[in-house]
Amino acid sequence: MPGRRDSPFRSDKQLTPIDIAWDLERPVPPDTELLLRRADSLLQAYWDAWHRKPIEQYVACDFRDVWRALATVRELQLAQGNLFLEWGCGFGIVTAMANQLGWGAIGIEAEPFLVSEARTFLAAEGIKAEIWQGNFLPSGSERLARHQSHHASLFHQVPSAYSQHDMQLDDFAFVFAYPWPGEDGFLKDVFREYAAPGALLLVFRGPYELELYRKTN
Ligand SMILES: C[S@@+](CC[C@H](N)C(=O)[O-])C[C@H]1O[C@@H](n2cnc3c(N)ncnc32)[C@H](O)[C@@H]1O
Repeated sequence: MPGRRDSPFRSDKQLTPIDIAWDLERPVPPDTELLLRRADSLLQAYWDAWHRKPIEQYVACDFRDVWRALATVRELQLAQGNLFLEWGCGFGIVTAMANQLGWGAIGIEAEPFLVSEARTFLAAEGIKAEIWQGNFLPSGSERLARHQSHHASLFHQVPSAYSQHDMQLDDFAFVFAYPWPGEDGFLKDVFREYAAPGALLLVFRGPYELELYRKTN
């Protein structure tokens, strides 16, 4: 159930679900489709050689579904600012699409190989977005997991990325995440506690399954 409290952590800050009927058949525009075809090839090459570079936590979302959601948020002007952040950006494809749609876009990724691949991809596509290497969890937010310490996002023993860039999570108007199963409650708690009032969280849960929330309090 969207907005449900999933951890024992108590906060008076709320996440309010935003119901959007996005058109699931909407064609992706030609420039984005070209970018996504090159992304598809990059990922196919990665999966073909996966045994040489196995990264257990990397799974890609459906980029076209996510584009439809991003484009709708843009058109409805739902974000209260122009800074977009992808939590765990992998190859940086969603970050690239957000930038194409007009946001100042940043992706945070813990895995050095993926950081390097994302930066190379963005440079090759001429996309002016940034990839930060580090942890997308704000310092201290691990405490919100409490009894849920098996979450994939807690396995990365790398420093939080924000302070290295003199920023905080509450500088961002719009955050995207593709959580591992069972982890979305924790990530929502982190967002609820650390994001700016009014900020948006878009969660990809599986094909055709996207949830959008606004932090309200
Ligand atoms: C399920 S994949 C999603 C990749 C991409 N966002 C997408 O939707 O295609 C999750 C990614 O988050 C990264 N990740 C997980 N926990 C992280 C953390 N605490 N800090 C930074 N990156 C993390 C993983 O390395 C992985 O690349």
